[in-house]
Amino acid sequence: MTAPVGHEIVELTNEQTHPLRLAVLRHDTPTKVVEFPEDTWPGALHLGIRIGDELVATSSWIPRPFPDPEPHGWSELVAWQLRGMATARHLQGRGFGALLLQAGCERARSAGAAVVWANARDRVMPFYTGFGFTCLGDGWIDDATQLPHHRVARPL
Ligand SMILES: CC(C)(COP(=O)(O)OP(=O)(O)OC[C@H]1O[C@@H](n2cnc3c(N)ncnc32)[C@H](O)[C@@H]1OP(=O)(O)O)[C@@H](O)C(=O)NCCC(=O)NCCS
Repeated sequence: MTAPVGHEIVELTNEQTHPLRLAVLRHDTPTKVVEFPEDTWPGALHLGIRIGDELVATSSWIPRPFPDPEPHGWSELVAWQLRGMATARHLQGRGFGALLLQAGCERARSAGAAVVWANARDRVMPFYTGFGFTCLGDGWIDDATQLPHHRVARPL
């Protein structure tokens, strides 16, 4: 992996995440919808990475309880959900996703969260498990994307 240089981690508005979501998360899916209902929930944080004027990665972090009561009792803890994790396609594999994941988890921890969770696409599962997320329970096909998913979570 090439170490990213000259990058800046920035807070974004909800709308600023849309172009990358469309280009990365919606380029091969039946849905082209880029808004998530959670985008405007209280405390929702949109974090990105800029290199100069180019937004190269986005992610959204939502204070939201872990939805499954078992197996770890995490539904009792303060939790944040990660959504919309995307690195520009021509810059994937350069470490930007890792930087953003780390930054978001640090922000969640600072805000009092004890666990971060996500509904992860199976095809990028190694990205999550490589950073301490555990793959949990049975998988499902997401209605919007028609892609296989599993719940993942990481204690902070
Ligand atoms: C998943 C994604 C955000 C990762 O971002 P990235 O900037 O490419 O990730 P990084 O370069 O920081 O990679 C970090 C590690 O994850 C691994 N990884 C990243 N994407 C992977 C993938 N698709 N499959 C397997 N491993 C992957 C890398 O190999 C790297 O491991 P290493 O440290 O051992 O080399 C990016 O590939 C992406 O936008 N994919 C398409 C959209 C998507 O599926 N988003 C997730 C929805 S749940």
